[in-house]
Amino acid sequence: MEVGYYSNAVTEESTRRSPRHAEGEKHMENKEKQPLEEGQRGLAEGDEEGARPVQVSRRGFLIGAGAGVVATGAAAAGYITLTPPKQVEVIKEVPKEVIKEVEVVKEVVKEVPVPAEAVSAEPSTRLRTVTLNVNGQDFELEVEAHWTLARVLRDSLALTGTKMACDHGMCGACTILVNGTPVYACMQLAIREAGKEILTVEGLAQEGKLHPLQAAFIEGYGTQCGYCASGFLVTAKALLDANPDPTVGDIKEALGGNLCRCGSYHEVITSVLAAAKAMRA
Ligand code: FES
Ligand code: FES
Repeated sequence: MEVGYYSNAVTEESTRRSPRHAEGEKHMENKEKQPLEEGQRGLAEGDEEGARPVQVSRRGFLIGAGAGVVATGAAAAGYITLTPPKQVEVIKEVPKEVIKEVEVVKEVVKEVPVPAEAVSAEPSTRLRTVTLNVNGQDFELEVEAHWTLARVLRDSLALTGTKMACDHGMCGACTILVNGTPVYACMQLAIREAGKEILTVEGLAQEGKLHPLQAAFIEGYGTQCGYCASGFLVTAKALLDANPDPTVGDIKEALGGNLCRCGSYHEVITSVLAAAKAMRA
C-alpha cells in the first residue's frame, strides 16, 4: 500500500518489531535468569538474615519500587508518620520568671481606676427618665440611652403606625415630625427628644376626622400594602404646612426620602395634589 507523504496511516511494516527490539528483549530475559552477585541479594520473607539469597526479578523490583514511591508519597501527604513522635516534656512547676511577670501585671491592673458606671451592671441603673411630647400629650418614660425614638414610640407607647423597615435611615418608613420637620425615627435617640413636639401618623386625624391627606390617599389609592404610607403622610403634611400649593416637582423633592416597595409613587403624588386642593378650598 502506497502511503502519501503527509499520511499518518499505520502500515503493517511500521507495527512490526525490529530485529534490534527482539534482541533487547532476549538480553533482558537472560539477565533475569542469571544468579545474583554479592550485594544484589535480599532476604526471603521469614528467613534469617543472610540465610538464603533471593533473586529479585525485574518485574518484582518494579513492583517493590512502586510500593516504595506510594509509601513515600503517603508519608509526604501526612497519611502516615515515618518518624516516631517526640516525647512531650511535662512542666511540673511554673517557672519563677513567669510568676514574677504575672505579679507585675497584677500591680499594673490595680493602678488603673475602674469607672463607677462600669461597675454598676444592674439594668435599672442604666434607665433614664425622659418626658416626650407625642401627638400633643406628655409621656414620662424610662428609657435606655441607646434606645431609638422609633423603638420607644412602638414598644413603650404602642404607637405602631410608625413603621420599621430598614432601621438604617434609608427607606423613610419610620418618618415622624419633630417640631414640624420630617425625621427618621430609627435614627434618633429618644433621650435627646425631650421637650420637642413629636407628631406620628396617629396624630393626623383630629376629633375623629381623617386629615385631608389621609382621605385623599384612601380615595386616590395612594397606598397598596400600606407599609410606607405613614412615612409619606407625615412628610406630605410637613410639605403642605409650608407650601399649600406645591407643584409635582415640589412633591417629588419633598418625598424623595421615602421609598415605596409597591411602586405607588404616581398615586402618592396625585393624592398629595388632591389633598392640597381640598385644603385650599
Ligand atoms: S426604618 Fe427608618 S429609615 Fe427605614
Ligand atoms: S404601598 Fe407598599 S411599600 Fe408603599
